[in-house]
Amino acid sequence: MKIAIAGTGYVGLVTGVCLAEQGHSVTCVDIDENKVALMKAGISPIYEPGLEELMAHNMDRLNFTTQFKDAYKDADIIFIGVGTPEKKDGSANLSYVYGVAEQIARSIEKDCVIVVKSTVPIGTNEKIEDLIKSNLANNVNVYVASNPEFLSQGTAVSDTLHASRIVIGVEDEIASEVLKEVYKNFNAPMVVTTRKSAEMIKYASNDFLALKISFINEIANLCEIIGANIEDVANGMGYDSRIGNKFLNAGIGYGGSCFPKDTKALHWLANFLDHELKTVRAAIDVNENQKLKLFKKSRKYFNSLKGLNVAVLGLTFKPGTDDLRDAPTLVNIPIMIDDGANVKAWDPVGIDNFKKLYPQGINYCYSIEETLKDADICFIFTEWDEVKNFDLKNYSKLMKNPIVLDGRNCYDLRSVKNVKIIYDSIGRETINSLEMSLLL
Ligand code: UGA
Repeated sequence: MKIAIAGTGYVGLVTGVCLAEQGHSVTCVDIDENKVALMKAGISPIYEPGLEELMAHNMDRLNFTTQFKDAYKDADIIFIGVGTPEKKDGSANLSYVYGVAEQIARSIEKDCVIVVKSTVPIGTNEKIEDLIKSNLANNVNVYVASNPEFLSQGTAVSDTLHASRIVIGVEDEIASEVLKEVYKNFNAPMVVTTRKSAEMIKYASNDFLALKISFINEIANLCEIIGANIEDVANGMGYDSRIGNKFLNAGIGYGGSCFPKDTKALHWLANFLDHELKTVRAAIDVNENQKLKLFKKSRKYFNSLKGLNVAVLGLTFKPGTDDLRDAPTLVNIPIMIDDGANVKAWDPVGIDNFKKLYPQGINYCYSIEETLKDADICFIFTEWDEVKNFDLKNYSKLMKNPIVLDGRNCYDLRSVKNVKIIYDSIGRETINSLEMSLLL
């Protein structure tokens, strides 16, 4: 089967490479010539563990091009994997998806199944079908199917090759059969349903996970007040298989390109239909507050950060990615700078992207030691392994005031108790081995 993929972001490129790994011939299309040149040279334009190795393994079945017409004209299947970013009002920006749909309509010269992988609001597949049918340059049949993506950044390759489920939303037998054929070698349960239900499965899954995180964060905040330990609480809850033990890590809130955008988009859509999604609204509100949790905690130690050396460990929204979209650091670092702090920041892969946004005003460091040197306070925003494996003794050795605010609960409290620091994390007791008064 000849497959074309529109868009080479996380969804498009990972899907293309994984389908090539399954033996399909795949052409990946992107408008960005630089990205295409990199991919042709076997270099992944996104940081995703294992992706380049898989690209190298399948180069004979992979093509990369900016020439969409050539890629689409005789394809049996075209996957749409372009972005649907958030608009100012919270709704999804569908201009890239509709743009690709028009290009497809003008290019295809034979019957084709169009598969929408981008996360799109419920009802969009129908609109895409109408748009393509009304712009067709040739007399061909098109069948539009929804096939949402459930990969996570950082584990995208294995999430795709070992998918938890494959959701196929179709309105006709032809699209259903073609997609079943594409995925026949994947060992995953298939959910075949209507397009609208498939679109809803994607939003409902992401919004439920976001809600789970906001819920545990609220409980963590209460644990801090009443002196309980959120890790023990989550552990105890997780043994109930109806709850499950995943996505119960309390922290400074969810970021990334999906949960913030997809919660707001579904909430916006419901509002538009005069229906209020109260739980999703709560997840969004709790998350907005949670992002500022560490900054608020810093007020326990300093009335202001003015003139202080602030060490920031981790810039990306989670480990395993250089993606900064909706990362808590994007709201926190500007506030620290406004407060007068001298910010030093470290991240193993996120510095280049952060520098594009903040070329000045932040002292970027290439080791944790350099970042901590003479710092008055340290904020941990991302649970990179380098942070989790960092020798705790070094905080007191290197920092001027060893005050560590950990937004990702990187350390076991028992180990923290053995070193001379003030350690304040999320939903757990504050350890103050310095016997220093809390407000400096
Ligand atoms: C998320 C979903 O997990 C994927 O299933 C989905 O396919 C993807 O969105 C998407 O729609 O494309 P992703 O955004 O890559 O994947 O990252 P996650 O691992 O889900 O993490 C999202 C955020 O939640 C991160 O900021 C992470 O730190 C936070 N998180 C996650 C917590 O705060 N606590 C947890 O227990 C888990």
